[in-house]
Amino acid sequence: MDFKTEISALAAEAIKTAFPGAEIDAETAAGMLETPPDQAMGDYALPCFKLSKTLRKGPPMISDALAGHISAPFLDRVESVKGYLNFFVNRATYSEEVLEKALKMGESYGSGNDGEGKNIVIDYSSINIAKRFHIGHLSTTMIGNALYKMYKFLGYNVTGVNHLGDWGTQFGKMIAAYKRWGDRETVIKGGVDEMVKLYVRFNTEAKENPALDDEGRAWFKAIEDGNPEALEIFNWFKEVTLADANRVYDMLGVTFDSYAGESFYNDKMQPVIDELREKNLLVEDKGAQIVKLDDYNMPPAIILRSDGATLYATRDLAAALYRHNTYNFDKNLYVVAYQQDLHFKQIFKVMELLGWDWAKGCEHVNFGMVSFEGQTLSTREGRIVYLEDLLNQSIEKAEAIIEEKSPNLENKKEVAKTIGIGAVVFFALYNGRIKDIDFWWDRALNFEGETGPYVMYTHARSCSVLRKAGECLAAPDYSALNAPEAQAVVKLIDAFPETIRLALQRSEPSLITRFSVELAKAFNKFYYESRILDDDMSARRAKINLTIAAKTTIKTALGLIGIGAPERM
Ligand code: ARG
Repeated sequence: MDFKTEISALAAEAIKTAFPGAEIDAETAAGMLETPPDQAMGDYALPCFKLSKTLRKGPPMISDALAGHISAPFLDRVESVKGYLNFFVNRATYSEEVLEKALKMGESYGSGNDGEGKNIVIDYSSINIAKRFHIGHLSTTMIGNALYKMYKFLGYNVTGVNHLGDWGTQFGKMIAAYKRWGDRETVIKGGVDEMVKLYVRFNTEAKENPALDDEGRAWFKAIEDGNPEALEIFNWFKEVTLADANRVYDMLGVTFDSYAGESFYNDKMQPVIDELREKNLLVEDKGAQIVKLDDYNMPPAIILRSDGATLYATRDLAAALYRHNTYNFDKNLYVVAYQQDLHFKQIFKVMELLGWDWAKGCEHVNFGMVSFEGQTLSTREGRIVYLEDLLNQSIEKAEAIIEEKSPNLENKKEVAKTIGIGAVVFFALYNGRIKDIDFWWDRALNFEGETGPYVMYTHARSCSVLRKAGECLAAPDYSALNAPEAQAVVKLIDAFPETIRLALQRSEPSLITRFSVELAKAFNKFYYESRILDDDMSARRAKINLTIAAKTTIKTALGLIGIGAPERM
């Protein structure tokens, strides 16, 4: 039973009876129904001022007239209060509806086939070659991962793209440096750090010896011309970078379906450039080819530099077209920091000017900056926190906490890993994405307060309650859940499916993070104020059902944002 549908039908029927001749159908009534902020005003409310124009009566008169015409077994009462018609659903019926559905669907509760036949592309993480993964990459990686999981959960066909930053003159310099001073063993052992060292040395020595820059340029040209040696070294640099990154992706449980990055579009930009020219959008400016965007209050999008080289924007235009042709996307999301707001506004505008109708599906999912314990990060000043180090430290700290709190726990290492990593991810996804994040250890790893460990701990607690409860075969008496603290849990479980949908509408995984905290808090309140292992077996059964549904919903919510949920902590 769907209460909203039932109530709208009853309301439409009552309107017909009380105001003969009035034409309000159930669907219209459904559109008017609201969920009052406070349970004292019922579960649903019909604000009758929305009807007063059609019915030519004041709202209080309407609500008074309707109240007498509505009754149903699932409704405890219907009240008319100052023009509002408030519906009070029978608590036990409500609990039964919500919980039986959640229990029946189990781990798929909240999922659906909303996305059947629809394609989503998500561009996230999108790291640069020969740079190490630092905490600035946490948001794009985990927001993208969460959106990926949520879309899948709703039945969409999703393609995750790591649009690698693997093109640019710096790679020529890196090869030049490697040829001069590097060797395979050292790079294999040192990974990206070693490549960075070579690059730094190159730039230092090039200040004294400008001939080096020519060497760098020559190697870059060699990559572009497809010189086998240059390509071999460059592709190997990519492998080394990805091997480094994959250790982090493995820890985070993040995967991709495509690694087509900037260099993948080397041979795919010409048609875009031709089309821009054909449509008279290209203008020459000091030898460069640009698309003017003055009319839209933006600086021009540069398509070709004066030396004929293509740019980041050129590649992104080719990439969007390629994704359209390859994936026929409904949505193409770019999870990229707000520093690139202008870039995306520009390329989206250029696509619109090109008449690429499908570009409406492109969206920039932007997010704020990350700093660490009050300090902004800066590569140049050496203030940089590598994500791998941060995760490992977090695991260690979690291990120490477990050692102190539950030294006898089995598989402590595994659990510490889940908690340590989950704490960091939770912290990154806790606030609305556009907010800047300042990472603090004590705030991320606290077992109390609105943290990952707190939610995970609540999940483990519900598992423990269920282990203690053992088997209970009685039929549930859902009126045992009429108390406000139990009802608060039921309401949240009920709200889970729409919360996922809202989170996707807004590309805002933080709604799920917040939801998990709310549910954990509500469950803990219920746990403290109500004896779950009730002597009355039917009451016990209802409370156990609530516990199972809460446990599963917390686990699913955490899973959707990429966080694990240990059964014991
Ligand atoms: N590699 C870029 C950076 O680190 C992000 C790429 C985002 N994706 C895109 N299609 N532009 O800034």
